Amino acid sequence: MSFDRKIKIAPSILAADFANFGAECQAIEAQGADWVHVDVMDGHFVPNITFGPATCAAIRPHVQGVMDVHLMIAPVDPYVEAFANAGADVITAHVEAGPHIHRTLQAIRGAGAKAGVALNPGTPAGAVAELMDMVDLICVMTVNPGFGGQKFIDMTAKIRALRGMIGDRPIHIEIDGGVDPSTAPLVVQAGADVLVAGSAVFKGGSVSHPDAYGSNIRAIREAAEGVWT
Ligand code: DX5
Ligand code: ZN
Repeated sequence: MSFDRKIKIAPSILAADFANFGAECQAIEAQGADWVHVDVMDGHFVPNITFGPATCAAIRPHVQGVMDVHLMIAPVDPYVEAFANAGADVITAHVEAGPHIHRTLQAIRGAGAKAGVALNPGTPAGAVAELMDMVDLICVMTVNPGFGGQKFIDMTAKIRALRGMIGDRPIHIEIDGGVDPSTAPLVVQAGADVLVAGSAVFKGGSVSHPDAYGSNIRAIREAAEGVWT
């Protein structure tokens, strides 16, 4: 997985057909997705439950690019190896998930994956100040995690602060929640390069009508890249 700051669209399969993940992953990649974002929820750290490492392992052969696993679970450490063994390229843990995020990030890199840290909307940029040399990705939540389809919360000041803290380190800034063609330019202007989108990618499409995924992905990408033209 090489590093660059080009815009990457990462559809969240939280908005896909749960009975058809393999075909859904193939369809979004064929329609221009850069990464596949996989939301793991435990009904404890967040109020919703999705799936665990076995499902990630089942999805893996259907994803050619980056499998980006977002862990909304607590505790994290007992499961890091299982998600790495399931083939996650990036494993992101929440800074709020426990007192030992430093240890968690060490464990993620130690298991051979890229390490991500996520911040809830109520958590300031400074919470990751001591972690800058241990992370490959910082995920700024623009909704309170747990559900797709929520309204975007403006975190542009936090994104700008993080962009300044990162300097020239090879760290992605990922935005998760409420990203669509109207909000994408705001976060890209502030310094984001990875855009997670669930409902805005999957709306109007299906594995038998995947063209809508393609036009939805293009609409987000064009709006985001429009910032630079
Ligand atoms: C929220 C998840 C997101 C979510 C995004 O807890 O982490 O990845 O699926 O969905 P949309 O794009 O619909 O806000
Ligand atoms: Zn997510």
